[in-house]
Amino acid sequence: MAPSGEALYSERHDDGNTFACATCHALAEPTSDGFRRPGHPIGDAANRPSYKNGQLTELLDAVNSCRVEWMVATAFASDDSRWIALRDFLQAEAGDAAASAISYEIVSPPSDISGGDADNGRDTFNQACVVCHGVDATGTERGPALRGETLTDELVAERVRTSGPSDSPVYPGLTDGIMPFWAADRLSDDELLDVIAFVLGNDGGAGGTGGAGGIPGLRECDSTHAKIGQVAVLSTFAHSVSGTAEIIDDCTIRVEEFVYDGGGIDVRFYSGLGGNYVNGFPMSEDLVRSGGYNGETVYAQLPVSRTLDELDGISVWCVDVAVSFGDGIFASP
Ligand code: HEC
Ligand code: HEC
Repeated sequence: MAPSGEALYSERHDDGNTFACATCHALAEPTSDGFRRPGHPIGDAANRPSYKNGQLTELLDAVNSCRVEWMVATAFASDDSRWIALRDFLQAEAGDAAASAISYEIVSPPSDISGGDADNGRDTFNQACVVCHGVDATGTERGPALRGETLTDELVAERVRTSGPSDSPVYPGLTDGIMPFWAADRLSDDELLDVIAFVLGNDGGAGGTGGAGGIPGLRECDSTHAKIGQVAVLSTFAHSVSGTAEIIDDCTIRVEEFVYDGGGIDVRFYSGLGGNYVNGFPMSEDLVRSGGYNGETVYAQLPVSRTLDELDGISVWCVDVAVSFGDGIFASP
């Protein structure tokens, strides 16, 4: 049986790479998950008169262009049951309301790349690049970790502005790769300069002493907050999630005996307040992996811009469908 239209939107395709439509397109913006995506929202796309800056008039051709060029899959035939399911899903999302064509501009990297603000850049990165490159550029199955010492500012600028197949029939001037370009209206040059400053300054968080210090891949934080030592036991809602989370310093949560079957798409540790995780923020890279987790110790870390004042709970949260696989509220043991 073919997957549902919604699954074909929100999950990777069996014959493609790790990207889902939802990796690059929300249905509507602003998004409930707080992420920014390179593609425009497509909730009303079924009713648009044309696509890709007027070069295509059929939705199937527009979708196939994304399947082939970004997802490294083959084009859907018009009678493929997967296409029919996806088309019906997009048509139901669009309803009867008329929609206008959208336009976007593929621009060259800025000529002066200096002067960005790394702190702002980290925030922008953790909204815009996080879906593929992970929180603080630690990497996911969709994109590599990014470390400043292996990159130049020119390379980062070029990737963000002109990444994509150089022989694309619909996007002129791309320079290579399957990472999608960010058009002028999706990320401003000022935001790009900030992101470059963050990525180039990113050494991957050398460990130190105390709290999570010294654990590879985790950054060092102070140990001053009153919530340190609080514990949350994860209840089980789906995918066999269980474990015990403890706040161990001002930015780190250790989850012991973590069990989760590794399924779903874009599943992360998320913060919550008052049992609400929809407005939380991501505290880990994507946890999805084959083989899952069978009682090991794993870590979640708050983004740099956040503090423990902003959370009292933790969820194993499926970002794409906004569902908690298991969560718990912190309390003193
Ligand atoms: C790796 C990122 C990526 C993936 C994955 C992806 N797209 Fe796209 N898509 C883009 C970009 C970039 C554009 C061109 C810029 C824009 O329209 O926002 C685009 C354009 C489109 C358009 C044309 C929009 C318009 O009105 O011009 C549609 C429709 C579309 N995508 C649907 C899909 C569907 C459905 C899927 C999943 C089968 C998908 N895309 C997967 C990046 C992606
Ligand atoms: C849809 C997934 C996706 C998104 C979103 C994305 N990237 Fe990428 N990025 C990739 C992939 C995959 C690669 C590996 C090279 C390739 O095939 O394009 C990559 C490569 C890169 C590289 C080159 C790394 C190297 O070692 O050569 C840089 C720099 C980069 N990305 C920066 C960014 C920044 C900055 C953002 C946010 C503005 C971003 N990316 C958003 C998927 C993504």
